[in-house]
Amino acid sequence: MSATSPVRAVLPPDIRARKGQAPLVVLTAYTTPIARLVDAHCDMALVGDSVGMVLHGMPSTIGVTMEMMILHGRAVVRGLQKAMAVIDMPFGSYEESPQQAYRNAARLMVETGAPCVKLEGGAHMAETIAFLTKRGIPVQAHIGLTPQSVNTLGGYKVVGREAEADQVMQDALAVEAAGAFSVVLEKVPMGLAARITQRLSIPTIGIGAGAACDGQVLVVDDMLGFFTEFRPKFVKRYANLGGLASEAIAEYAAEVRARQFPAEEHSFADVLKGKQP
Ligand code: KIV
Repeated sequence: MSATSPVRAVLPPDIRARKGQAPLVVLTAYTTPIARLVDAHCDMALVGDSVGMVLHGMPSTIGVTMEMMILHGRAVVRGLQKAMAVIDMPFGSYEESPQQAYRNAARLMVETGAPCVKLEGGAHMAETIAFLTKRGIPVQAHIGLTPQSVNTLGGYKVVGREAEADQVMQDALAVEAAGAFSVVLEKVPMGLAARITQRLSIPTIGIGAGAACDGQVLVVDDMLGFFTEFRPKFVKRYANLGGLASEAIAEYAAEVRARQFPAEEHSFADVLKGKQP
């Protein structure tokens, strides 16, 4: 590659090849400005369906639509130069059949420019994952706590304690065998996540799954302190941007009410020629 050629984008096979190397760094992104910040430091930018809760005030991810994912996906892809975009398939867009999943995954990739999709589900989604990967759609799987199933799981609980552990291991093996290039492990006990990571040849990306995973992902608004409705135990808050934004808005409101803003430096002088209007 010459010094003037564009930076080569990261693609799913590159991510797969990172197994056992330096940890993969992933954050969600939903807008171009945040994608630019993520791009500078991360390997992947996940356009998560968490966008529904984080940016649209929805109570869960269930109401997120294909149109929302396409809009946010396009915005994120525009902001990336090196990191790889992964785009979530929303609830109801892939569960019915492999054919339905193919139609919607292809639409997400064509209309956003993302090189792959993520979908929730383990062994029961293996047939769909195999169908997609054999037809040119790289898939990142998502097992353990799968938030789109919150109504059947009965809440956002840890998944994989005691008897459930075997099922989570079977899910991991099934999505790998089906051709997933990586797998997100959400809210899985750390010992089990370590055993899965050891057993699989594809990278595991943990969120609430301990330090042994091949990579880590967080919801960017959680770690920046923008989303404060609730805070899962696995979130470390690296900044309090919500607090800073609130202080700034309060100061603006006070200055407008006191006629301190706008000052002269924010205003435009008249050019007086003859009579004033
Ligand atoms: O939608 C999302 O943000 C996700 C992450 C929590 C992995 O799926």
